[in-house]
Amino acid sequence: MNILALSGSLRAASINSALLRACARLAPPAVSVRIFTEVGALLLFNPDLEPSPPAAVVGFHRAVAQSDALLIASPEYAHGVTGTLKNALDWLVGFEAFAAKPVAVLNASPRAHHADEALRETLKTMAAVIVEPASIAIPLLGAHLDESGMVATPSVAAAIRGALDALQQAVIGHDESGPYSAC
Ligand SMILES: Cc1cc2nc3c(=O)[nH]c(=O)nc-3n(C[C@H](O)[C@H](O)[C@H](O)COP(=O)(O)O)c2cc1C
Repeated sequence: MNILALSGSLRAASINSALLRACARLAPPAVSVRIFTEVGALLLFNPDLEPSPPAAVVGFHRAVAQSDALLIASPEYAHGVTGTLKNALDWLVGFEAFAAKPVAVLNASPRAHHADEALRETLKTMAAVIVEPASIAIPLLGAHLDESGMVATPSVAAAIRGALDALQQAVIGHDESGPYSAC
């Protein structure tokens, strides 16, 4: 099972990106978590470019199409999602393979509820399937944990494993019931 992970932060020391790398390390054997590292290379969305998208967008679309589910972790900027993440999502609005894709939303800062709510609203509007049991808040802001620290902290590792298990089960359940399958 292929899970594509998107971070809304471009910071080298990003908590959200570290969380996604910890997810990749803690994924069960049947699950591969690939972090899409080119989010910052996506040109600003312009509908005029959609008929012939830039190479980075083509790569992004291919990665999304080949995934069974998406895992998203983003900081809150001024009570909204980051422009980085919103731009990436805008490139998926008209991309057919994204519709009905199972998505887990991880929130590394539970106080940041505005961005979490906004992201969910955007994803629902884009016809994504938000997998609630896999969409959890893990209080990492101020915890001073890098990716290895997250993996080594039992409560954090258990929360991540639980979210990944829930996402895996949701994908299996949907594949069996047939409303969608990985492209
Ligand atoms: C421009 C900017 C705006 C921010 N706005 C908010 C905000 O509205 N609410 C909040 O809880 N945190 C806000 N923060 C704090 C970030 O969400 C927090 O530092 C987070 O850890 C950054 O994620 P990262 O470590 O993955 O880059 C803001 C940070 C920046 C740089």
